[in-house]
Amino acid sequence: IERTFIAIKPDGVQRGLVAEVINRFERKGYKLVGIKAIVPSKELAEEHYGDLKARPFYKGLVNYMTSGRAPVIAMVWEGPDVIRQGRRIIGATNPLDAEPGSIRGDYTISVGRNAIHGSDSFESATIEIGLWFKPTEVFDWKFTHEEWIISAN
Ligand code: GTP
Ligand code: MG
Repeated sequence: IERTFIAIKPDGVQRGLVAEVINRFERKGYKLVGIKAIVPSKELAEEHYGDLKARPFYKGLVNYMTSGRAPVIAMVWEGPDVIRQGRRIIGATNPLDAEPGSIRGDYTISVGRNAIHGSDSFESATIEIGLWFKPTEVFDWKFTHEEWIISAN
């Protein structure tokens, strides 16, 4: 069973998109196995976006994530193909390329304020979940109606 790290960024929280984001993943059938509000330290944000260190917007990106003007809502979602499907639910990095119907496509217009993050691969999902969550903050549980969401064959 696959898991991904999804984070509502401070602008998404300011914009009142928390319930909307959770709704879209929940209604799809994915399972929320971890959630918390957190103002990330500079170290955490820098590590999370380590692959973008050389980019001109890196410093602004780290400042935006760590300002504390709103927390980040950090989540772990579980289910079949959730990493790739999560990226589809979120939409393209640049909101002007994001399809209507996706979160970024519906609610954002600026790449520097694109409301939400989602892991882009199995490797980054594993790293990011480990970075943002302690093992005890992520829960193994089953829907009592799991058979109505995921068929055995
Ligand atoms: P995340 O899910 O947040 O990782 O976005 P992504 O995987 O769709 O894009 P990427 O990892 O390449 O970039 C990470 C984040 O950096 C983006 O979500 C944006 O918030 C920010 N970013 C990327 N490109 C730009 C840019 O050209 N300008 C600015 N200001 N921010 C950017
Ligand atoms: Mg990314």
